[in-house]
Amino acid sequence: MTALTDALPSLSAHRNRLAAIPMRQMFADDPERFATFSATAGSLFLDYSKTRIDRAALEALVNVADAGGVEAGRDAMFAGREINATERRAVLHKALRAAPGDHFETAGRDILPEVFQTRERMLAFAERVRSGDVAGVGGPFTDIVNIGIGGSDLGPAMSAIALRPYLDGPRLHFVSNVDGADITDTLAGLDASRTLFLVASKTFTTLETMTNAATARRWVVERLGEGAVGRHFAAMSTALGAVARFGISEDRTFGFWDWVGGRYSLWSSIGLPVAIGIGAARFNEFLAGARLIDRHFQDAPLARNLPVLMALIGVWHRDVWAFPALAVLPYEQRLRRFAAYLQQLDMESNGKRVRLSGELISEPTGPIVFGEPGTNGQHAFYQLLHQGTEIVPCEFLVGASDHEGLDEHHTQLVANCLAQSEALMRGKNRHEVETELRATGMDPDAIASLAPHKVFPGDRPSITIVYPKLTPSVLGQLIALYEHRVFVQGLLWGLNSFDQWGVELGKQLAAGLVGAVRSGRPPDDRDGSTAGLVGVIARMREGG
Ligand code: F6P
Repeated sequence: MTALTDALPSLSAHRNRLAAIPMRQMFADDPERFATFSATAGSLFLDYSKTRIDRAALEALVNVADAGGVEAGRDAMFAGREINATERRAVLHKALRAAPGDHFETAGRDILPEVFQTRERMLAFAERVRSGDVAGVGGPFTDIVNIGIGGSDLGPAMSAIALRPYLDGPRLHFVSNVDGADITDTLAGLDASRTLFLVASKTFTTLETMTNAATARRWVVERLGEGAVGRHFAAMSTALGAVARFGISEDRTFGFWDWVGGRYSLWSSIGLPVAIGIGAARFNEFLAGARLIDRHFQDAPLARNLPVLMALIGVWHRDVWAFPALAVLPYEQRLRRFAAYLQQLDMESNGKRVRLSGELISEPTGPIVFGEPGTNGQHAFYQLLHQGTEIVPCEFLVGASDHEGLDEHHTQLVANCLAQSEALMRGKNRHEVETELRATGMDPDAIASLAPHKVFPGDRPSITIVYPKLTPSVLGQLIALYEHRVFVQGLLWGLNSFDQWGVELGKQLAAGLVGAVRSGRPPDDRDGSTAGLVGVIARMREGG
């Protein structure tokens, strides 16, 4: 049992009470609603007034955070305790964005000297690549190809797109999929003599990354000879021995530590491609942005703590209202990979069914996360958000200003973002639909048959996060906000947000199937479907 499971009956009573009050009425009854149900941290403004919550329900939720040991859990994490119990590791990615004067230790060891030293080396290398001091055999690098997957890809790839206005170094490319199409399409047109490969892998054993790195190595050797490998590769990993065996020298290897989870590693050497793209100073602004939210998370009272509030809204929706999914909807084209990034952060962290103690969790845990940038998503899946049978809580993100100075575009973008959350909240009832149709001169029979299709139920919850502009600092703040939110939700569910055993079985079975797929001989130790599919694929291959 957790504080959350204990509180579910009383939280459900709040839900039943609030289910009878339309959100429109809540706004009409309380002019202070927006002020009451909004909060700030750093440059971020969170509006959660368009959720089905009132002061009493919020108080009950904050009490759950209090009784659920959120503060103690947070402090244990920051203190470097082994909170990732199944992997026997501390969780200290916050140390990667620390500033001089901060203190982080684990197992009695001060870890910041090593962190600062590695950061300095990594940033110095980034600057030397940018200046052309570190160059390929054909001259300064024009293209950087990051080879990694999961946490060694999603964070840097998402950030490289998000920070496009700040990219003033070589072009950045990201290869992740073991599907040969990924590396083939990426390398097409690149000049090997001016391309630098960054092999990013915490373990340096990940199948996709090792396969792609070997292909990249061959590509370089075929064009430039074996001797060029040293100049055209660098690595970011905790497995220094494996990196050396691949042939990458120590001065081109940037380490990190086992207390950095893969999906939290963007702040470590894994951020190297981003640092090469935006430069050391801006990379430091990015880290400083995240640190700002770390401090807020540590210092702000629970009821005004942004990650805590978002986590409480998360469990409110998931466990009390039983909403299965979460739509992340940035009205920011450059956050087009943000939902993909959050899928790993949230679903790999909290997509679990046992508590730390090993007992089965009785309530629903991590939601199905998906999303696309607005306004594109409006023309695709928003139909379901507005009128579908499932209620999907939405999280809108929008900048007050753009980088482009295209005011008309930005005005339209912001208006659309605000309109969507308004539409989800207020809906359109039968009476409003009929009045609208009558005003068009439609005859009563036609109105009667069309009206049900045009009704919007409304009362669909959303939150909106507003920031001034998508700068490196703001991006750092947003990512840290979501990291801590995921952590708090994991705490409330009593699970370990930092392991990922659920990805292992598929990997294990794939390894055993490689021989069968290669030979085309259906395995006799697998089920009928798997063996049958091996056969079908082999026959299709033979047929060309
Ligand atoms: O998918 C499982 C996983 O272990 C992720 O947690 C991790 O981010 C990814 O694989 C890549 O791992 P590595 O950085 O060790 O190559």
